[in-house]
Amino acid sequence: MPKPLKLGLVGAGFVARFHCIGLKQVRGVEVAGITALKGAEALAQSAKEWGLGEPVVYPSIAELAGNVDVVALFAPNFARVAMMEELVGAVKAGAVLKGVICEKPLGRTVAEARRLVELARSAALRTAYFENQIFMKPIRAALAQLEPVQKAMGPLSLTRSSEEHGGPHEGWFWDPTKQGGGVLNDMGCHSIAVGWYALTPRGKSITFLQPQSVSAEVALLKWGQPSWRAKLLKDRGVDYSKVPAEDFATGMITYKNPETGQKVKAQFTNSWMFDKQGLRLFMDGMGPGYAFEVNTLVSPLNIFIGDAAAEAIKDAETALEKATATRGLLAVQPNEADLYGYTDENEDALAAFNQGKDGQLPWSYGLEITRLVIASYMAAETRKTVDLTDPATVKALETYVPLIAQGRGAEVL
Ligand SMILES: NC(=O)c1ccc[n+]([C@@H]2O[C@H](COP(=O)([O-])OP(=O)(O)OC[C@H]3O[C@@H](n4cnc5c(N)ncnc54)[C@H](O)[C@@H]3O)[C@@H](O)[C@H]2O)c1
Repeated sequence: MPKPLKLGLVGAGFVARFHCIGLKQVRGVEVAGITALKGAEALAQSAKEWGLGEPVVYPSIAELAGNVDVVALFAPNFARVAMMEELVGAVKAGAVLKGVICEKPLGRTVAEARRLVELARSAALRTAYFENQIFMKPIRAALAQLEPVQKAMGPLSLTRSSEEHGGPHEGWFWDPTKQGGGVLNDMGCHSIAVGWYALTPRGKSITFLQPQSVSAEVALLKWGQPSWRAKLLKDRGVDYSKVPAEDFATGMITYKNPETGQKVKAQFTNSWMFDKQGLRLFMDGMGPGYAFEVNTLVSPLNIFIGDAAAEAIKDAETALEKATATRGLLAVQPNEADLYGYTDENEDALAAFNQGKDGQLPWSYGLEITRLVIASYMAAETRKTVDLTDPATVKALETYVPLIAQGRGAEVL
């Protein structure tokens, strides 16, 4: 048996904890170290209890890097570039790493994402961009089941993807200058990626379909209303009367199959104003004579809790990520980390790094997703369809910083 890979986590918040839960199902890995501004000790304790290893809490990324095989960047978007600079500094000073993982989004702008890719290359690091939805078992199973049908009838021509919930759990997500925008940057990256992936004919590379054009709209539909704005200011310390971000985004991306010339379309919709049981991932796809549909609010498990019994429930999120209710008919997902693809994306990255390869989704792919997200902001903010085959537009995207991310959302929302 080869020795387990030593995984080091940067960040010990929401997503780092979710990954640890997913790692309970992954073999050949131990959580060996954690560094974070807050929460590292508590996560290290949970990881121990879950049998994931004996993680040591390190005071810096450099010290973590010197004691693990793989580093996972699970900290906020605004800290990415500085963290990666520190990590590359440690590698150049002698730390030996098999690979580096980065959570979505790779960057808040194309320039930031490109910088991340270049930094990894400068230290010859293998990379994995974490887009969990591409690894969701229902998505993989749908595409495997449809493979013979696709061969006979032709590929999918339309996908519709959405990720929606009632709003993020930490203040920095709501602040567009820190996060890089609103829900389009936060969750549009997921829906754009999974839509593109599902449209891709089986067996072709992840970027086989060529993006042609993007149209999009963004809006502030709920959290700009006075009472919700006041709640946001009180609970999260973010003032949407001054620095608003979008809580709704929708758009359409057209792709071309370079072998057949066929145009196919992926629609995405994302919101932080989804007042249902909790997080919902919804994807469907249409091909000639066939279709698939995934809806994560449909669980084999329903639980009913009446008003009298509800007082016993402290944490709504035991049912579902971003759950908003503890009573009534609840949708409950018994293994969200597996359902949402965290387990499988970790397995993929660690197996690839063990073989000296990039994960299935290298950072160069994360850069492509950032480009599509930024093109969506450009389309929404200029109210024009963005032509991704036009060299001048492609160049402009390299330096585009959405008005919303600049804190000038009031001009467009
Ligand atoms: N794949 C998904 O569905 C998903 C879900 C949630 C978050 N994410 C992504 O994961 C990343 C982290 O999000 P989160 O929800 O865990 O955030 P969080 O705010 O819950 O946790 C962030 C963690 O990073 C630490 N941190 C912050 N700044 C730091 C710094 N400069 N140095 C070291 N540690 C620092 C914090 O102390 C905390 O432990 C984000 O990029 C987010 O987009 C992805």
